[in-house]
Amino acid sequence: MDYIDLRSDTVTWPTEEMRKAILEAEVGDDVYGDDPTVNRLQEMAATMLHKEAALFVPTGTMGNQLAILTHTNRGDEVIIPEDNHIVVHEAGAPALLSGVNLRCLPSDKGMMDLKKAESTIRFGNDIHEPETGLICTENAHSTGVVHPLSYMEELYDIAKRNDVPLHLDGARIFNAASYLKVDAWRIAQYSDSVMFCLSKGLCAPIGSMLAGTKNFIEAARRNRKILGGAMRQVGILAQAGIIALDKMTKRVHEDREQALYLAKLLKEIPCLIVDPDDIHINMVFVKINKPIDPVTLTEALKNDGILVNPPVNGEMRFVTHYYIGRQQIEKTVGSMKKILSS
Ligand SMILES: Cc1ncc(COP(=O)(O)O)c(C=O)c1O
Repeated sequence: MDYIDLRSDTVTWPTEEMRKAILEAEVGDDVYGDDPTVNRLQEMAATMLHKEAALFVPTGTMGNQLAILTHTNRGDEVIIPEDNHIVVHEAGAPALLSGVNLRCLPSDKGMMDLKKAESTIRFGNDIHEPETGLICTENAHSTGVVHPLSYMEELYDIAKRNDVPLHLDGARIFNAASYLKVDAWRIAQYSDSVMFCLSKGLCAPIGSMLAGTKNFIEAARRNRKILGGAMRQVGILAQAGIIALDKMTKRVHEDREQALYLAKLLKEIPCLIVDPDDIHINMVFVKINKPIDPVTLTEALKNDGILVNPPVNGEMRFVTHYYIGRQQIEKTVGSMKKILSS
């Protein structure tokens, strides 16, 4: 990579090993179920998450939307924290595609008050009321916070008690699992369906997985077709996904270590506020205690060869990944120091 790109882990290019393996990938028509590489990837994902089956999908957004479409009926409501990715960053898709209403609850970094979540469930036995069709949660949350297993378990208990399915957006489930020092299935066990991304910190160029019961995945496969997401010789992508699962899941702890190193160095810059205790995965959020135009700051960093998203409300996000090592971090901190002291 020419730039030091800290905007997201989605910017990661496929590794050399992935590029070489893609050349050799065995393929077939996946709409017929004939692509051996896709089948292998789906089996691997299901096995790793202790789910009965899994489905390869083009994006995390499609995985989440397929889950909503498959679990719910039109007119249902979905209980969800107000800052969940599905609410904030999926372009209103649940209303458009599934005809459901998002019942957004106050959130503390992706966690709802559990009593409130349970009391919000509705059963549709009053003609004025919609039925709760689904509960959604996200772990790791996009604020970089990992929710404890106890929260997941309690939320899942509520879902089960009330006979409502629970979908987990686990886009970065392996980062979360690494922080919790557990295998990813320990998080996924508290969900009926789980989506995770191959194309973020795991470096695959394209693709996410949706996992759940055999029946659920069967229905999701049909819905994927409806959404136009059924692909043909997609083994060339699945091959990278297999390497992502096999190799890259085992190294995501390094990205957190780099994030902690970055936070330590940024903390030494007087106008920056960062709490290393908040760094659970590969994301560093930093408050800038100095008036500076967001675009001026990002342009100045870009001139030094560093890409970041403009700060929002005085807060910057840096995301570490496979292509960010100590050298890139030290260069970034040097540039921040220079820009903020001028
Ligand atoms: C938590 C979370 N969920 C879902 C997605 C959607 O993934 P995609 O960009 O592949 O649609 C993202 C993407 O950044 C994400 O961070």
